Amino acid sequence: GESTTVQELSLKMHKGPAELIKKLLSMGVMVTINQEIDTDTALILAEEYGYEVEIKLPVDLEAQLMQEPEEDSALLQTRPCVVTVMGHVDHGKTSLLDAIRETNVTATEAGGITQHIGAYQVEHNGKKITFVDTPGHEAFTAMRARGAQVTDIAILVVAADDGVMPQTIEAINHSKDAKVPIIVAINKIDKPGANPDRVKQELTEHGLVAEEWGGDTICVNVSAIKREGLTDLLEMILLVAEVSELKANQNRPARGTVIEAELDKARGPVANVLVQNGSLNIGDTIIAGAALGRVRAMMDDKGRRIKKAGPSTPVEVIGFSDVPLAGDIFMAVEDEKLARTIVARRQTKKREEELKTTTRVSLEDLFKHI
Ligand code: GTP
Ligand code: MG
Repeated sequence: GESTTVQELSLKMHKGPAELIKKLLSMGVMVTINQEIDTDTALILAEEYGYEVEIKLPVDLEAQLMQEPEEDSALLQTRPCVVTVMGHVDHGKTSLLDAIRETNVTATEAGGITQHIGAYQVEHNGKKITFVDTPGHEAFTAMRARGAQVTDIAILVVAADDGVMPQTIEAINHSKDAKVPIIVAINKIDKPGANPDRVKQELTEHGLVAEEWGGDTICVNVSAIKREGLTDLLEMILLVAEVSELKANQNRPARGTVIEAELDKARGPVANVLVQNGSLNIGDTIIAGAALGRVRAMMDDKGRRIKKAGPSTPVEVIGFSDVPLAGDIFMAVEDEKLARTIVARRQTKKREEELKTTTRVSLEDLFKHI
């Protein structure tokens, strides 16, 4: 679809338009000065004069690609909500998620500290809820910095025996910045020192006033260990989700966010992605950051092979040529040539940035020795 005119080429190549028109004529192409000529012809012409040609896409092409498409409301359907669990270190985020899933991820983690972000889906009262566990607010910040808005609802886990801590406050601020509704899970209520009222008191100092105290913040007392309050929590999540009226069109090319990715020795780059709109299918051409790919295989959160992943589905994708970054926006692109061009440009940009960083580092090293 790219084209140029004789006039433009003439300016770029410092050759008179008449000469170019004559040259083109000798090549069997008859044109006027303002007529559009295709890329291939322009290429041959430039080469005739010994120019190297760099094909540039219109600047806004990438912006166009990244932009959320306008959706016809008639095509939208309710989608499951995506819930992020946040809170201070050791307040029980992973344990709570485990309790909800009734599996045990904590036990398999090195030292019980979350090593990665996992995303899982559960069902309650016939409705699906997608949970995203984060190793801390850094990951959340990194994702937001890349423009990824993953979560619909934030569960703020606060240990009833420890109260509001620095990372609790940061989580509150992040959620407020992202305009994400917060549900507070006051955890560890089984512990002897547990004091839910003190937690609520401390929360009011940060603008979260519990419903039972006249505010609009839903607080649920839970114990991940004793599996108490979990049903209440799930019900509150579904309530908030319903009010939020979350919709998506499952019949368009997929778009979403990379939750985590790694290089697997046997399978190559493996990316855990969250499909946020559209559906991802086997065979789709996908891009994420500077990585290109074609979906070879997909696994759901229970490790089952699937052929299609709709809105709010966390899925493991095999088929990327490179390992994308957590927080990268991914999308299925119907125009494979366009996908390749955009990825090539991003890779060049990435290399340039890497080069800049190395230069800066070596300069600093140099100054250190002076
Ligand atoms: P990070 O991922 O490191 O930030 O921690 P986390 O918030 O995911 O906490 P995690 O689930 O790993 O729990 C931390 C500790 O608190 C573990 O020893 C859990 O067994 C304990 N714990 C979590 N929930 C409860 C609870 O409801 N009651 C009691 N008594 N202990 C809990
Ligand atoms: Mg954890």
